[in-house]
Amino acid sequence: MLLKSPPSLAKIVMANLIGVLLIIEVIVSGFPFGADGLSMGYYIMNCPLAEPIVRHTVTRALDADPTLAAALVRMHFHDCFIEGCDGSVLLDSTNDNTAEKDSPANLSLRGYEVIDDAKEELENQCPGVVSCADIVAMAARDAVFWAGGPVYDIPNGRKDGRRSKIEDTINLPSPSFNTSQLIKMFGQHGFSVKDMVALSGAHTLGVARCSSFKNRLNNVDPTLGSEFAKTLSKTCSGGDNAEQPFDATRNTFDNFYFNALQRKSGVLFSDQTLYTDARTRGIVNDYARNQAMFFFNFQQAMGKMSLLDVKGGAQGEIRSNCRKIN
Ligand code: HEM
Ligand SMILES: *[C@@H]1O[C@H](CO)[C@@H](O)[C@H](O)[C@H]1NC(C)=O
Ligand SMILES: *[C@@H]1O[C@H](CO)[C@@H](O)[C@H](O)[C@H]1NC(C)=O
Repeated sequence: MLLKSPPSLAKIVMANLIGVLLIIEVIVSGFPFGADGLSMGYYIMNCPLAEPIVRHTVTRALDADPTLAAALVRMHFHDCFIEGCDGSVLLDSTNDNTAEKDSPANLSLRGYEVIDDAKEELENQCPGVVSCADIVAMAARDAVFWAGGPVYDIPNGRKDGRRSKIEDTINLPSPSFNTSQLIKMFGQHGFSVKDMVALSGAHTLGVARCSSFKNRLNNVDPTLGSEFAKTLSKTCSGGDNAEQPFDATRNTFDNFYFNALQRKSGVLFSDQTLYTDARTRGIVNDYARNQAMFFFNFQQAMGKMSLLDVKGGAQGEIRSNCRKIN
């Protein structure tokens, strides 16, 4: 069925509206290329179906497995925080290099097949044109939209990097970080405190495994509500890999994550600290009260994240297989 409910109709109208606005924007601004070579509507001339192909591949994959929405959003975050948004997260290890992917901090990343599928189709349509880094960025954007989150537009033109090293994954935030550490690490990447809280709101999607929060149970964490501690303990009785959804609606992009923090029901220490700490509590309360404000700030912060240390021009390449450098 094509139009099964009013929300999906609204979504289709919105999606088309964005497409039209994008084209108008490109015509009006005459292909604005930034210093790094990125621009809105980057593929309009040389691969006009690039964005629709990615959207279609993502939609098909998520209709079959809704839990992949979380995986795609998280993949983009990990890609951008290590070596910039350059597709380095996708590279497989080789005989003489252990890639980011094989770090214990790969923290159960999934969804690589979705990127491979999109890449295959894009190589058929316009070989050697669309970078893997752009596919990851578009897929995350489409996953947020698919899950009911904000629609946003991102510039494209990222190049794929050639470096992916296991040791670089120390640059990812740890689930045991407190607010000071989160503010510091995100600040180093140019994010404001508000951006950091909004981006953490990506945890409205998906799950964490027991191994990511069990230390909160062993050395009783006072920021964890006693009722919710029982829920987490129960999950952990299923072992280290047992999954705990971050909020009550794991496949829907909403503001329930922030409501959970207000009830001391944040899954990770790094989630709950945003409510515990006076510097960020007000932002959590704002987002819990006002979903539109969360969506707006999230979309701004994701746009910023999608531009982290991007490689333009000759600094990178367009891989023909996202798992291997050319
Ligand atoms: C603020 C610092 C952050 C920390 C400490 C953190 C840490 C984690 C951890 C430990 C997990 C669970 C991994 C597992 O147990 O398998 C997780 C899951 C996830 N993270 Fe984060 N994260 C942070 C920020 C972000 C950001 C900025 C995004 C995206 C914009 C993001 C998106 C996700 C998603 C969607 C999941 C669920 C994945 C799934 O269900 O497959 N996280 N994160
Ligand atoms: C994550 O890393 C572990 C080794 O620490 C590896 O066995 C696993 O295959 C990796 N997962 C992915 C999806 O690459
Ligand atoms: C946050 O953690 C760091 C490192 O463990 C510690 O030095 C600092 O005092 C902590 N800050 C707060 C506000 O708890």
